[in-house]
Amino acid sequence: MNSIAEAPTKAIITGEHFVVHGAWALATAIDRRIRVEASKSDELTVESDAYPGRHYERKSRPEIRPIFKVARKICEAEDFSPRVHLRVTSTVPPGSGLGSSASTMVAVAASISRLNGVQLAPREVVEYAMTGEKEIHGRPSGIDVAVCTYGGVLLFKMGVRPKPVRFPGTRKFVVVQSGQKRSTKRQINKVSEMKTKFPYLFSALGESASMVSQLARERIVAGDMRSLGKLLTYNHAVLSTVGASDRALDELVDLALSLGCYGAKLTGAGGGGSVVTVPQSGQEAQFMAALEERGFRSFEAVVPTSGVRSWLQ
Ligand code: MEV
Repeated sequence: MNSIAEAPTKAIITGEHFVVHGAWALATAIDRRIRVEASKSDELTVESDAYPGRHYERKSRPEIRPIFKVARKICEAEDFSPRVHLRVTSTVPPGSGLGSSASTMVAVAASISRLNGVQLAPREVVEYAMTGEKEIHGRPSGIDVAVCTYGGVLLFKMGVRPKPVRFPGTRKFVVVQSGQKRSTKRQINKVSEMKTKFPYLFSALGESASMVSQLARERIVAGDMRSLGKLLTYNHAVLSTVGASDRALDELVDLALSLGCYGAKLTGAGGGGSVVTVPQSGQEAQFMAALEERGFRSFEAVVPTSGVRSWLQ
């Protein structure tokens, strides 16, 4: 018997980077899922469509090591047999700023526990998944893992239980991929240098990021997408000031705005990855077609969407 777990990926709506330093951020799960299939095996092995071939724990490549770390941790803590084969299938390329690593770690934890007949509580999934995320990103805030586990839209601050943001109906975003890969760890370190250089300025910008995230929550609940867009564009300018953006992302934000969307910003660590935009209502398809004409891949993210789910097969 096999178990399957599927976790959503995510987009940070406002407040990334500052969230690592204690600010509030707003994030949403998106319905581009990572699927992990777990089955009994002779030893702990991993297969991933992003890194083809069968991977073994002793000589695993760095990108796969965090998966082994989560698998080992959960098997030791829960007294499960580590003789498991994990097959990872993704609809999101790694390094695209959409939380593919967090989503993978969450789905690994959920699939192994389900294979052993256990359904973990969400906070346990978060705890196990974080062991892998720390290996990859150094000192992540935990927002990616939280949103990939719980799903929906979350207002998040480190050390505080994530607050689900509920609203009637759905909201639409368009995510545009820059096509450039980036390293979250390097980006976190780069932005953190700004804190060392300009501590008072950084702290004031962090407070403003918290305020922007609270306001963005209100606007998303009210369905006021025009104002939400303005908050996103403002947040992008601040992220650009502290070094999270680059020329290509700034140009992509400008392009999205020139095509008439209500607002746009980098999402996640920046320095490559993706841009999240608020399209004008009813104009989504036209907007995406215009982006494609200019060589950019994009997709519509309709939120809310559910968190991790797992089943036996
Ligand atoms: C990455 O999706 C978001 C960052 O704020 C890092 C983190 O919160 O762990 C850049």
